[in-house]
Amino acid sequence: MSLFVTFLYIFLCNSVSLSSSLSLHFPLKSLRLTPTTNSSSSSSSSSSSFQTSLASRRTPSSLPYSFRSNFKYSMALILSLPIGTPAQTQELVLDTGSQLSWIQCHPKKKKKKPTTSFDPSLSSSFSDLPCSHPLCKPRIPDFTLPTTCDSNRLCHYSYFYADGTFAEGNLVKEKFTFSNTQITPPLILGCAAESTDDKGILGMNLGRLSFVSQAKISKFSYCIPTRSNQPGLSSTGSFYLGENPSSRGFKYVSLLTFPQSQRMPNLDPLAYTVPLQGIRIGQKRLNISASVFRPDAGGSGQTMVDSGSEFTHLVDVAYDKVKEEIVRLVGPRLKKGYVYGATADMCFDGNNPVEIGRLIGDLVFEFGRGVEILVEKQRLLVNVGGGVHCLGIGRSSMLGAASNIIGNVHQQNLWVEFDVANRRVGFSKADCSRLLR
Ligand SMILES: *[C@@H]1O[C@H](CO)[C@@H](O)[C@H](O)[C@H]1NC(C)=O
Ligand SMILES: *[C@@H]1O[C@H](CO)[C@@H](O)[C@H](O)[C@H]1NC(C)=O
Repeated sequence: MSLFVTFLYIFLCNSVSLSSSLSLHFPLKSLRLTPTTNSSSSSSSSSSSFQTSLASRRTPSSLPYSFRSNFKYSMALILSLPIGTPAQTQELVLDTGSQLSWIQCHPKKKKKKPTTSFDPSLSSSFSDLPCSHPLCKPRIPDFTLPTTCDSNRLCHYSYFYADGTFAEGNLVKEKFTFSNTQITPPLILGCAAESTDDKGILGMNLGRLSFVSQAKISKFSYCIPTRSNQPGLSSTGSFYLGENPSSRGFKYVSLLTFPQSQRMPNLDPLAYTVPLQGIRIGQKRLNISASVFRPDAGGSGQTMVDSGSEFTHLVDVAYDKVKEEIVRLVGPRLKKGYVYGATADMCFDGNNPVEIGRLIGDLVFEFGRGVEILVEKQRLLVNVGGGVHCLGIGRSSMLGAASNIIGNVHQQNLWVEFDVANRRVGFSKADCSRLLR
């Protein structure tokens, strides 16, 4: 059971062995530029030439993309998107916590091709990124993806995820085809030749290489349904690129943005960082200072909205207060010695999750000015299989992360809109399984 913690990569220098250098890093924490900061102050020549090449591809006259799709929801949000010319439908995990997108490319050598993977030889718009491309320099300061030049002088990369899965392949360029008239320019993607997973990633964070930035998406939104009670079965949610017809009812919070001058070691400046202010359980507002949810001087403590993380994760100070309250309310019912996904130890045995939820009460994440995420008591506990249900909150330090992360279990039955152009995130209660068409 793999937990999608895709914002966390194990950064591996290609010369160092895995076992001796296991350390967790945010992939792009050294990025100096977010779309919110001042790009005129860029310094490195390689990175500015890359910016120029991206900028020259801009087509200001083209209309913004407008696209609607369903997605499958199990532990992750899985979109099926048409990629290449003619289009091949690819399954991609929608991940607001990471930057580079990648697709599963089936290996040329192997005869037996997995039916779901992308076949570059069938696409006329596919191209490999040569080693001479500015992005392929391993020391680009804002792109910690370790790249090397392979024997064909193509740009090779490898990604290692916190849960031990990995992907490696080449960087390539390919188009997304949303309709006959809505075709993106060729976007830089990873094309995984070897991977432990069978799906790709749609990287949606604020980095300049994310799908959002490369395709100039001004906003996108999703509505995550509650999960099917039958393990293994996915439920279906809704996704928009561009305007959402329901957005008039959304309540917005401004994203926290971080200028380049505020570079901090533990900060991910490309994440969708929201101003979480407090947590309520039942009627009680937990005694957690709002500063615990904001980056400190070292960048620890930011609160990000991450569709690629299943559970919410909290820094120790906040997690301890939540646990204290849960112990006070339902301590004797807690499953002793059990930890889900290495991070979440507030779990319960038995088939009465609604009853336990009733004893605990609603869970609320408060963002100020009346904006909040309400997790109703009847769906407070998450079925993790084997007859076990957990409060959907883990300890982020157990992931090696220094951030608060709002995971997808706490974005269910909501529209969540990432209004990139206006630097804000909107929420609105919805019955996400009823929106289907
Ligand atoms: C951007 O940089 C220019 C020149 O370096 C400066 O004059 C301007 O104030 C900066 N803008 C912001 C928003 O920092
Ligand atoms: C809240 O927490 C702070 C520090 O953790 C503590 O000093 C204070 O007494 C607490 N307040 C209440 C009402 O428990």
